[in-house]
Parts: sequence; C-alpha cells; structure tokens
Amino acid sequence: TWTMAGFRDLEIARIRDQVGSGRVICGLSGGVDSSVAAKLIHDAIGDQLTCIFVDPGILRAGEADEVVNTFRGRFNIRLVHRDASDLFLNALAGVTDPETKRKTIGRLFIEVFEEEATKLGGAQFLAQGTLYPDVIESVSFTGGPSVTIKSHHNVGGLPERMNMQLVEPLRELFKDEVRALGRELGIPEAIVGRHPFPGPGLAIRIPGAIDREKLDLLRKVDAIYLEEIRNAGLYDAIWQAFAVLLPVRTVGVMGDGRTYDQACALRAVTSTDGMTAEVYPFDFGFLNRVAGRIVNEVRGINRVTYDITSKPPGTIEWE
Ligand code: XMP
Repeated sequence: TWTMAGFRDLEIARIRDQVGSGRVICGLSGGVDSSVAAKLIHDAIGDQLTCIFVDPGILRAGEADEVVNTFRGRFNIRLVHRDASDLFLNALAGVTDPETKRKTIGRLFIEVFEEEATKLGGAQFLAQGTLYPDVIESVSFTGGPSVTIKSHHNVGGLPERMNMQLVEPLRELFKDEVRALGRELGIPEAIVGRHPFPGPGLAIRIPGAIDREKLDLLRKVDAIYLEEIRNAGLYDAIWQAFAVLLPVRTVGVMGDGRTYDQACALRAVTSTDGMTAEVYPFDFGFLNRVAGRIVNEVRGINRVTYDITSKPPGTIEWE
C-alpha cells in the first residue's frame, strides 16, 4: 500500500541515485513547495545541498527571519541569505503598472539567484519545488494568471545557461500531498499550512508606487489581521487573507484632533485552486475588533474597509 513515509523513502533513494556525489542548489522562497523540496533533498544528500534565499524586501513581517531560523538554525541546511531589498526597492521606485512590477521582480529574482549561484562556484543540479499541476500547465497553455504564477517559480533559462540538471522531487504531487509530505518530514505547521503568497509579494498589495515606508505600514496592518485570524482559529478555513494599503487619504477623528491618514482594505477568501474565490464571511464582531486594533495600533492608518468582491469578477489580489 502507498504511504507518505514510503513515498519519502523512495524519493530519497531516487535523489541519491540522480545526484550521486554532485552538488545541488535550491532556491528557497519561504513557501510550502520550495521548503518541502529543500528538506527532502537535505534528508537525502545533506551538505551536498545549498539553498539560496533571496529576500526581495517585499515579504510579510518576520518571514525572512523565519526562513533563516528554520532552515539554517533548526534543520542545519547550508543557506545563503541574500538581503536584496535595496536592489528590488530601487528598481521598483516609481513603478505603478502591476505587470511592470511583476516583470521587474521576476527578472531580479533570477539575476540575484544566478549571481549567488555563481558565487558558490555553480553546481551540477538545480532543485525546484515543481508540482504536478505545474507540469500539466507547462504542456497545456492555459493563459491567465497561471502563466504569471509559473514565471516566479522557475528560474527561466538558468539551468541551460549554467549547464545544470533539474531535480524535481515533487513533480508527481498535488498541493495537499506536498503538505502531508512536509509534515512527514517534520517541517513546522506554520510553514506547511501556510496560505499561498505571490512571488511579487507585498508589491502588488500596494496599488501604485511602493517604497519602504508604505511596506512597513502594510506589514503592521497585515500582522495584526493575521494574528487575529490565527487567534480566532480561522486560519485553516481561509485560502488567503491579507491586507492592502490603499493609495488614498481620508479624514478621521482621534481624541480631540482631526486626522488625515491612509486607508487600508482587508481581504479573505475561500477557494480550492485560486481560479475562483468566495469572500470569507467573518462575523461582524471579528471585523470590528480587527479594525479597532489596526486604527489604534498603526499610526498612519485611520480607516479600514473589508473587500467583499468574489472572483470573478474580482481577482484575489488587487493588482
Ligand atoms: P488572482 O489575483 O489572479 O490570484 O486572483 C490568483 C492566485 O495567484 C496568486 N498570484 C500570483 N502568484 N505570482 C505568483 O506567484 C504572481 O504574479 C501572482 N499574481 C497572483 C494570488 O496570490 C492567488 O493565490
């Protein structure tokens, strides 16, 4: 009978077989797929694996630290942590068009990854957390956002340029199976059960041009929202939840004074594949509590809205 433990052992044997005494490089994003791929490969070949984590400066609060602490600290995996936030934020300065943001970010991820891989002296193998649906997608062109989604995952052209072979131990699995495998491998629930997070990150959750100040503001709002969702035990019932920093100032009152600060939107949806989505029906008391905390705790935000648009006609992200 098929078991996840059996699958793990089989994949470990296959990886050893493919790689031999070669060196493997793996890009780590903090997401489920690359995390599970990295841990599985490390279980198979130990220090023959080096992970490269490019921090683009557009991640959520605490995520970069969590990746480093988990993979280098807890799992003892060789990890290059490149803080590329200046590079990304400079390139994104003044960029307002969503697709230009995506292209800029995608290009930089590849450039920085390649730079770090070269510094390591290269490797014979490149590991990727490609899943079965990604394999299907690449043979039948589906158009739409799925194409964009892929552009973040695969480090386009790099394997050929650097003469590397791909190691893709998850290519027979669906997302829920990858999560189960991750649990089998002892990866913390906070990573294995994590909501999907787009490659362009917080950059597409700030309509218009982004900068460090806006990112910091959004991180504070987002962290409060997610903390309340976790505390209410709702995290696993939701497909994705996040805050959006709106490019609008509105008038408010605070104590005796008048404020003229920024507004934010909260978004939470249920979905099975991200292609369609329904708004999550929070009870009003919950939304009220979150809004109260945000306005009281985050200086610079004086108004909170809840986005009740389904997909279609909306999209999950705002850009
Ligand atoms: P939309 O906004 O198109 O999102 O309804 C559907 C799913 O895709 C994610 N998404 C992206 N993921 N790069 C990614 O890696 C992207 O450019 C991108 N755009 C959207 C989104 O978070 C949701 O899960």
